[in-house]
Amino acid sequence: MKISLIRGDITEQDVDAVVNAANSSLLGGGGVDGAIHRRGGPEILDDCRKLRASHYGGGLPAGQAVATTAGRLPATWVIHTVGPVYSPSDDRSGQLVSCYRESLRVADELGVESIAFPAVSAGIYGWPMDDAARIAVGTVRSTPSKVRDARFVLFTADAYEAFERAV
Ligand code: AR6
Repeated sequence: MKISLIRGDITEQDVDAVVNAANSSLLGGGGVDGAIHRRGGPEILDDCRKLRASHYGGGLPAGQAVATTAGRLPATWVIHTVGPVYSPSDDRSGQLVSCYRESLRVADELGVESIAFPAVSAGIYGWPMDDAARIAVGTVRSTPSKVRDARFVLFTADAYEAFERAV
């Protein structure tokens, strides 16, 4: 698997799947989640509502991942994962590791060859960027997968630099 870093907007990535840093409602929010739903259009939210009704009445738990279509995005799939909210007193890094592993597992099920990840949990959910980057890069590197092209798409200079240090 080739791992690369890109500074930019994940909604513009021409990949098979983009990963969304969602919340457990799967019904949209701010940050990268808001950007994906805005740019991808209502089809993604329709799919999310169906998933809630069929499988996740109580919401998608942190650390899990699930796919929908990608609406008007260049990608074919959106893989929604729910990162943990950062807590200095409770180590939730296992859940953050699981976000990347589960996203790759879902990607393999779909036959995805190229995937773009945001820095899950490192925005509204407050995870310190350097630690989030180390977990992201370390987990994707060490997870066996058929994905050939994995990109981290970083929105800010700070995020990009943290991922460079982690790589
Ligand atoms: N492309 C790539 N990265 C982005 C983009 C974009 N278009 N927009 C923001 N980021 P966040 P979280 C970066 O807050 O911390 C939502 O409301 C951002 O700068 O999107 O997991 C959900 O519904 C940051 O580095 O996700 C949840 O309620 C990174 O993406 C909650 O936020 C992640 O920030 C999830 O919080």
